Amino acid sequence: MNPEIDLDKIDMNAEPPAEEPARQYYFMAKCREWVREFEQKNGRRPTAFTQTFGCQMNARDSEKLTGILEQAGFIETQNEHADFVIYNTCTVRENANQKVYGHLGLLKHEKKSNPCMRIALCGCMMQEPGVVEKLKKSYRFVDLVFGTHNIFKFAELLYQTLNSKEQIIDIWEGTEQIVEDLPVERKYSFKSGVNIMFGCNNFCSYCIVPYVRGRERSRRPEDIIREIETLAADGVSEVMLLGQNVNSYGKTLKDSISFGELLRRVEKIDGIARIRFMTSHPKDLSDELIQVMKESKKVCRHLHLPLQSGSTRILKAMNRKYTKEQYLELAGKIRREIPDISLTTDIIVGFPGETEEDFLETMDVVKKVCYDNAYTFIYSKRTGTPAAAMENQVPEAEVKSRFDRLLNLVQENARSQTARFAGTVQEVLIEEVNEHDPSLLTGRMSNNLLVHFPGDVSLIGRIRKVKLEVCKGFYYMGTLV
Ligand code: 5AD
Ligand code: SF4
Repeated sequence: MNPEIDLDKIDMNAEPPAEEPARQYYFMAKCREWVREFEQKNGRRPTAFTQTFGCQMNARDSEKLTGILEQAGFIETQNEHADFVIYNTCTVRENANQKVYGHLGLLKHEKKSNPCMRIALCGCMMQEPGVVEKLKKSYRFVDLVFGTHNIFKFAELLYQTLNSKEQIIDIWEGTEQIVEDLPVERKYSFKSGVNIMFGCNNFCSYCIVPYVRGRERSRRPEDIIREIETLAADGVSEVMLLGQNVNSYGKTLKDSISFGELLRRVEKIDGIARIRFMTSHPKDLSDELIQVMKESKKVCRHLHLPLQSGSTRILKAMNRKYTKEQYLELAGKIRREIPDISLTTDIIVGFPGETEEDFLETMDVVKKVCYDNAYTFIYSKRTGTPAAAMENQVPEAEVKSRFDRLLNLVQENARSQTARFAGTVQEVLIEEVNEHDPSLLTGRMSNNLLVHFPGDVSLIGRIRKVKLEVCKGFYYMGTLV
């Protein structure tokens, strides 16, 4: 929240300001007025529910949506039984879209019992023209649809929706704009995502992200640092720097700066104890970054380095711009330089034209790198991407068999990698009470592993040393030391 703006002091009889973010603060004040009227009429404040699908970027965007709803005076709920429901959608794979349509079916019923309910959809899926057509035709009960490029306009769109019975659709093709200083309601008080860039220029041939998130734009380092300083002052000790391809951060800025240099600057901020980042593209990962990670006391011992495929032939068809050998060399260098690092990855099985030999190349890389964890995906055809037009889509049964074999290997590796820390003492950031046993706390290590141990709730948000006593496969049981 921009500390200089007091919503109650905004003159709502004036014309809305043209410049951002002042314009959005004006509409937040207007929404607040609407909420007061609702309260007078109904004897209670309106409720709102935000549901996130997809990646960390979306999770961060949802915190911005919730921040605006909160400023307007809505009370947050934990389910769809609410006066305002917003789904922040993902479209990276087809099943993400299916999930949203499934939820919409349920929402239609919910709206029948609360006709004043307003339903909004935003995020990546809304940037697909086919989706918007479908919503216009078959989902008239959805009140507001907007996309990734104009999410900063949420306060304005919310106000319009609250005062309209028409379906409002506002989708932009792209934008150069980055609007700073809008309110944010963090999910965790002690850790936060921080966008450092938006969009992607890589056009991997299977991926829809560049089409729905637009071209790469980096935030200015001074804006990022200012945001992190504010977060630190507000009790945040861990930040996750977010971008589709953080290794190309800063290249398009007027005063260009490398990602390694940005990390160095973030490292200097008092109060920040841990720095994470997501996601790295292997083609852009520099020696400078490895050095910065190696020397840093704050950058976490975890690197997510998507492989996608181990076959050079398939990597070429995927437009990934590295070979199997180059990837192996890079992973080897990282493991040599930072031995206690945890390496994780993303792998796609069943890309068009993938043969058994190609798949075995992937298995070979997985064996050699011995990932600490890997997210495995079945290739999903995304309309508009070059791969969707490729011939030789792999038969389903073949893909399923490969997927199962890969998953087995990945899990075997993850178990052995996890076990290598048994008996050690690790610093953990204590994140929450254990979901299954309230006498236990859950902490996250620098390498992203979780450990559960007895402790008091008051420790949540603190960094403490924990002895890793029993390895349970993918996590540990331990005790505070
Ligand atoms: N099909 C399957 N997986 C995909 N990903 C991206 N696009 C697709 C697709 N069309 C995976 C990649 C990426 C992760 C976020 O999602 O592995 O790294
Ligand atoms: Fe998609 Fe490739 Fe960009 Fe990642 S780097 S978002 S996989 S196009």
